Order: sequence, then C-alpha cells, then structure tokens
Amino acid sequence: MRAIVIEDHFAAWRAAALGALAEDLAPETIDWRVTGPPGLQQEQALFDYDATASAAATVLPEPTAATVHVSKELAALLQDAALYREPQRWAFLYKVLWRWQQGDRAAASPADADGAQLYRMARSVRRAKHDMIAYVRFRKAASAARTPPEYIAWYEPEHDVLAWAAEHFAQRMGRSSWLIATPRGAAFWDGRALHLDQRRALPGEHRCDTADEAETLWLAYYRSTFNPARLNEAALEQHMPVRFWKGLPEGSLIPGMISEAKSGARRIAQASGVGALGGKSIPIEAENAQPVREEASSLDSCRRCELWRNATQAVPGAGPPNARIMLIGEQPGDHEDLSGQPFVGPAGQLLELAMTRAGLAREQVYLTNAVKHFKWEPRGKRRLHKTPAQREVQACSYWLERELERVRPTVIVTLGATALAALLREKANLRDYFDAPFELDSGWGIATYHPSFALRQQDDAARDKVLAAISDALGRARELAESVDRARSRRTGA
Ligand code: URA
Repeated sequence: MRAIVIEDHFAAWRAAALGALAEDLAPETIDWRVTGPPGLQQEQALFDYDATASAAATVLPEPTAATVHVSKELAALLQDAALYREPQRWAFLYKVLWRWQQGDRAAASPADADGAQLYRMARSVRRAKHDMIAYVRFRKAASAARTPPEYIAWYEPEHDVLAWAAEHFAQRMGRSSWLIATPRGAAFWDGRALHLDQRRALPGEHRCDTADEAETLWLAYYRSTFNPARLNEAALEQHMPVRFWKGLPEGSLIPGMISEAKSGARRIAQASGVGALGGKSIPIEAENAQPVREEASSLDSCRRCELWRNATQAVPGAGPPNARIMLIGEQPGDHEDLSGQPFVGPAGQLLELAMTRAGLAREQVYLTNAVKHFKWEPRGKRRLHKTPAQREVQACSYWLERELERVRPTVIVTLGATALAALLREKANLRDYFDAPFELDSGWGIATYHPSFALRQQDDAARDKVLAAISDALGRARELAESVDRARSRRTGA
C-alpha cells in the first residue's frame, strides 16, 4: 500500500493523481491521506480540454506525470465532485480517473456504479453552488468606521463551495469589501483581492443577526408583497428550501406568515357559513386559536413538531385505562380534529364495523393514533389528509410511549404502515408483518390495513376484502388477548 499525502484541494490531488498514473499505481494500492487542515480550493484550469476534439481527448501536460486524455464532461465532473464533502473523495476520483486511463470509458457513464456516483456528487455540488449564490445575504457590518469588511454574511454551504462562490461575489460586488463566514472558514474581499481562509472552523457566533437599515426596509417590502390568499407552501419550499431560511433575513418571517395565512384559510374553510359572508377575515395567531379546555392536558400544549399550528386540537387516545387491546391508527382525520375524539369519521365507522364482526365492542379497546395532530393540506374548501413525515411520527412517539406504559395492553393492533413503524420505532414493511402476531417487549403486536385503505378501494368486492382482513386481524387480537389472560389467571390461580 502506498500512502499519498496531499493538501485537501483539487489541484494537489490532480498533481498526485497524474504522478500515480505515471507509476501505474492501481487505486487499491493507494492510501490517500490529507495533510493539515483543508487548504484553499484553487480556481484554475485544472484539466484542459480540447474543444475541437469531440468526446474524448485532451492532453494534460504535466512534466513528471502521466498524460491523460479526458473528455470535457469528465473534466467538469471531476472538478465539481472534488468539492463534495466526503473524506473518501480523493480515492474515489482516482479510481474513476484510473479506470478511464485504462480505457474503461464506462467509469464516466451514469449507467456505471462509479459513474453514477460521480454524477451524483457533481450534481450535489452544483446544487450547493447554486444555493450559495442564491441564498447568501450580506448585511452591513456594525462597525461605525468604514473599516473593511463593509458587508458580512454567514452561510453554511453543504459542500466545499466557499471559494467558488467567493470568486462569484468578488466579480459582482465591485469595490465594496465583504466577508463571508462559514462553519469551515471564511472568504474576505478587501475591495481588490480575495483572501480565503478555510483552515479554521468558525463557530456559529460569527453569524450576524442584527438587521441593518436596508434589511429592515427589505423585510417590510417582503411582508407587503406576501399575499396569504395565494400561498402555495409546496412551491415556496421548492423555490426556497426550508434549510436556507435560517440564513435569510426574511427566513424568520416566513413560518409566521404561512401560519397566519393558513389559520385564516382554515377558519374560512371550516365555517363555510361564516366564510361565505362578506367582510374582512382577520387571521389570528395559531397559538390563540387553540381550544380552551377546563384543564389543559400537556398534550394540548405539545409543540414537539409543527403540526399543532394547523390543527384545531390534539386528539388523545380514548378507551378503558386497562384495556387488553390497543388499536393504533395513523393520525386524526378532519372529523377527529374537530371533535377531539379518535376514529369518529368515516374510517372510524368502518373500523367499528370490523370490530363488531370480530366480536369486539368499541368500549373494550383503547383507540389511539401514532400522531396526535391532524396533518392536512387545503383543497378548495376541504382539508385533505396528508401523511405525517417520519420526523413527526418520531416527535409524537413520546405520547404513544406514555399511552403504552399507562395502558399496558396485551395485544396492540397497528392499522396501516405509519402505525406499525411508530410501534416498532423503525421503518417497516407492512407485508413483512401482516397476519402473523409478532412478539413485543411487553405483549403482542398484530399488523393490518388501515380502514381508510378499504375506503380507497374502487369497488365493493375489493373493499370487503380489506375489511375482512381487518376484522380477521381484530378477531385474532381478541383471541390472543383472551388466551394470554387465561394463561395468566392459571398461573396466578385467579
Ligand atoms: N384515521 C386514523 O388513523 N385515526 C383516526 O382517528 C381517524 C382516521
């Protein structure tokens, strides 16, 4: 094994890689190591290419190195992928270059495993470059004297694109001096020359959170252009992904504006009679729209995720505190959200039918959901169910665990994939658990369909089939609970 030690930038790797190729070193015989802290990313023509020679060939002149012919496209891919934040990147890039040098052109094809990875890395870096250009926001530095930098920005790039972006800003911001600080270094433009320091990790306190005058104006303008009636959250998040909000001055405004827009829209949608009246609708803070209860439960004040903002209320589980069987659904639906009770809407009615067929009364079982707030999206005046994200299920597992500890059911029936994953605390394929009871730390689990799956079936026969599967599962849960109870009372002699 040959150790090759390089500085952590493309030019250093390129020189070393050409040397290694000259010595005919196979990728698996090289241990690529990086010396010292990350160095500067040199912006230079790292691979020349001959635009007149079609797909293939360019000669890379390097006095003590191999001569490598690379296509223009591969040259660009290697340069971009070199900025991908991943310690093994140099070994990987050498592997690709080596294969290419051996005549294996597939190495640069997206249909090849290495080629696909190269494309993926380059794509991700190109996105990071674009994002940094789009989302860096300079603020006027606080210093009263006109000492450089006049403008400062904090940004957390996904890959090592600081130097590239700094070049971009240097060409566009004229003589004004500026500093861009990142968690892995900074770029400083003094009005004439660019200075890069990627050697020091900069802590978050370099972040600049004070608004200057221009920014105050910008925020006022941004707010004034926002039309709640035309809110399209998906499009907004697509154009300006949430992860960038924290670095943007307007980022702190967005969640509040969305929630105001939504709560205004929700009230109108829920009270169609009121919504139909003329006059002004006045959005109020989501916090103030929560129901007033005699004794607010801590679930009512749950803020573990953002779902509470658009829900009318949290829907706790319901049923005997010592029920032998617990049924877990996904999340409350529209009816449940308004009534505060689980499984009272169409899916609940179907579930009740399945329970009756299985010989179970609603009063016997404890009914709850993996997620306690209704997640929905507006469709006209309707609120359409939206599947909760994994992080929301995860956030809500706190409440499910409390219910499991309190009720200690013998058998837990999960309705649908979300409930199964919530119970197992990991992603699970319903098909793998379907039908056979599985053992849990403190009892048994049975996985079946969610009743809304039956509602979504196209015809009666298909609906009946799903309903039959649910009632079979519930019947099995009842028998299992009874037999465990029988065995228990035999043991205790009760
Ligand atoms: N769907 C569920 O998963 N739970 C309910 O409470 C209602 C519909």
